[in-house]
Amino acid sequence: MNPQRSFVTIADLSREKILYLIRMAEEFEAFPNRDLLKNRIVATLFFEPSTRTRLSFETAANRLGAKVIGFTDPKVTSSTKGETLKDTIMMVSNYADVIVMRHYLEGAAQYASEVSPVPVVNAGDGANQHPSQTMLDLYSIYKTQGRLDDLNILLVGDLKYGRTVHSLLMAMRHFNPTFHFIAPKELAMPEEYKVYCREHGIRYEEHEDFNADVIAKADILYMTRVQRERFTDLMEYERVKDVYILRAAMLNKARENMKILHPLPRVNEIAYDVDNDPHAYYFEQARNGLYARQAIISDVLGFTLEDVQNNKLQL
Ligand code: CP
Repeated sequence: MNPQRSFVTIADLSREKILYLIRMAEEFEAFPNRDLLKNRIVATLFFEPSTRTRLSFETAANRLGAKVIGFTDPKVTSSTKGETLKDTIMMVSNYADVIVMRHYLEGAAQYASEVSPVPVVNAGDGANQHPSQTMLDLYSIYKTQGRLDDLNILLVGDLKYGRTVHSLLMAMRHFNPTFHFIAPKELAMPEEYKVYCREHGIRYEEHEDFNADVIAKADILYMTRVQRERFTDLMEYERVKDVYILRAAMLNKARENMKILHPLPRVNEIAYDVDNDPHAYYFEQARNGLYARQAIISDVLGFTLEDVQNNKLQL
C-alpha cells in the first residue's frame, strides 16, 4: 500500500508543496518532451465522461515517455459483471505503475488509494474534489498574476456541486485570499465549505447579483457550469441553468490584471463574445493542465524537481 504518494485531495498539500509543483510545471512548460517515465505504464480509469482531464493526463504521460492503458466507459469493463472497485484497482495495479481515476462516487479516490499498491491520482470524485484541476488553476493564477497571495477571487455559478471551486478554496487557504461567492440560493456554497473558510481564516462574501460592479472587485473571475448531471430534479436544473451568463459588455470596469478562468466544459455561462476579450484565459488554462499533470504524475512516482531539471530531453 502506498497511500502517502497518492494525490487524492488538495487539502493534504502544504503551501510549500503547491509552490514546488508549480516550479515543476514551469519546467515542463519550458520543455514538455522528456523520457522521465520511459518504461512506465499509466492507467486512466474514467468511470465518468471527460475531455480535458483524461486527454491532458494521457498527453502528459505520453510526453514523459510512458505508455497509457485504461478505459473511458465503465460499461465495457467487468464492473458491469459486478466486479468491485477494490478488485478493479487490484487488477489494474498488476499492470500499471500509477492509476489516474475519475469516479462518480465521492470518496472513491480516497478508498482506491487505501487499497492500491500503486499511487492513485484523483481525476474527480463526484461533487467532492478535483485536485489536479486545482493544480492547473493555481498554476494559471500564478502565471497570470505573478503570485498566489492576497488575491480577490470571484467564484460564480454552481458552487453547490462544482467540485473545482471546493478544491480551489481549500488550496487557497495558504495564500490569504478574499473570495466572493456568487450563486443563486439553490446552488450556494455548501455550509461545510463556509465553515472551512471560517476555521482557516479565509474571508468571503456572498452575493446573488452578478454585474460589472462585482466583477470590478476581481483579480480572478472563476466561472462554473451548472452541473446538470448532479441534479435529481431536472425542473430545478431548468430554473437555474442560465441564471448567470458572462457577456463582454459586463467587463467594462474589470481590473487590467483580471483573468477569467473556467474549468470547462462551458454550456451557456460564458457568451462567445468574451472569448476574444484580453481577460479571457480559459483555453490557456486548459493547456496549463498538461504541465500541471506532468508534475503530478512525476511527483507521485517519486521524481523530484531536480530529477526533472536533469532529465535529458527527447529529441
Ligand atoms: N475540467 C474538466 O474536468 O473537464 P473534463 O470534464 O472535460 O475532464
